[in-house]
Amino acid sequence: MKAVKVRREKAEKIRKWLEKNCYKDKDRRIRLEDGYVIIPVTESFDIPGDYEIIQDRNPVFKEKKNFRSVVENVAGYYPKYTDFKIFGKIGVVKLPEELTQFSRKIADELMRIYRLQAVWLDRGRHGMLRKPEMELLAGQGSETEVKEHGCIFRFDVTKVMFSQGNKYEKMRIAGLVEDGEVVADMFAGIGYFTIPVGKHSPAKKIYAFEINPDSYTFLLENIKINRVNGIIPVLGDSMYTVPEGFADRVIMGHINAEAFIPVAIRALREEGWIHYHESTPEKILNRPVERVKKHARKLGAEVKEINLRKVKNYSPGVLHVVVDARIKIN
Ligand SMILES: C[S@@+](CC[C@H](N)C(=O)[O-])C[C@H]1O[C@@H](n2cnc3c(N)ncnc32)[C@H](O)[C@@H]1O
Repeated sequence: MKAVKVRREKAEKIRKWLEKNCYKDKDRRIRLEDGYVIIPVTESFDIPGDYEIIQDRNPVFKEKKNFRSVVENVAGYYPKYTDFKIFGKIGVVKLPEELTQFSRKIADELMRIYRLQAVWLDRGRHGMLRKPEMELLAGQGSETEVKEHGCIFRFDVTKVMFSQGNKYEKMRIAGLVEDGEVVADMFAGIGYFTIPVGKHSPAKKIYAFEINPDSYTFLLENIKINRVNGIIPVLGDSMYTVPEGFADRVIMGHINAEAFIPVAIRALREEGWIHYHESTPEKILNRPVERVKKHARKLGAEVKEINLRKVKNYSPGVLHVVVDARIKIN
């Protein structure tokens, strides 16, 4: 491995030149040796100058700071279905069964590298309420705050889920809302759609329906800390709490809620939009479109416009998609 050995007073100028011309080896550290500065360079470097080109006998490698390298260092390999996310000061890892023996060691490393307050193991989500099953691996605390598009989302990682993959979708919906609209968010959670729509759209009112008291508590808090007006939170099952004929737009941010499509259509006054989310195998990508059409037909409503777009990859071969449907109630 090559390096250049340079006198201290010349080192900074030469370092800058090496860096600018991509000759510096970024994987090794610069160090002091016998009063000289040793700057690692690439193998092809052979331009003579105000330095000596040497073989670097004592290289010091930089520590790779990423989740993959932590898992590889601790377990010796990086298996499929391994994942890590940071929510504010809290980390959440997903590890396959075969790595559980290393989970605490991995968590300790992550705490150190990312200066986290706590690391939790995510054992999956369950039921219609999508409640996470979590185990504390290191540190303490589970409440955190995430900032997105000028919105603050406060929540507890052990009680509710937070999907970072929907970031674009939240702002897209806010951008579609027209002046004076009444919006219904049928699965409001902690305010994933409600808060950005309240903050960044000219909606007149947003009705936010949520069944889970834990999520509802954070929804109330997030409305307060984001200082958004015009939000009417409703605690309860949207199957029974969503009124008929009151909304211009209905957001259905739950990927398993076909049974709620008739409720969403009935919630529209005259003509309006529903945004229906679903996780669907790529092979039957049009299934959610067909489902919306089927329910509209049954209710005697007319689908004036319908589009499907991908939100994110859900699992191998399965996509999380959203259907935007403009529907006229007859
Ligand atoms: C999948 S989460 C929302 C995810 C969110 N759209 C996102 O972008 O991350 C679904 C939310 O719907 C709520 N929920 C489930 N069934 C419900 C129902 N019948 N009525 C009202 N809320 C419900 C859950 O408690 C949860 O907070």
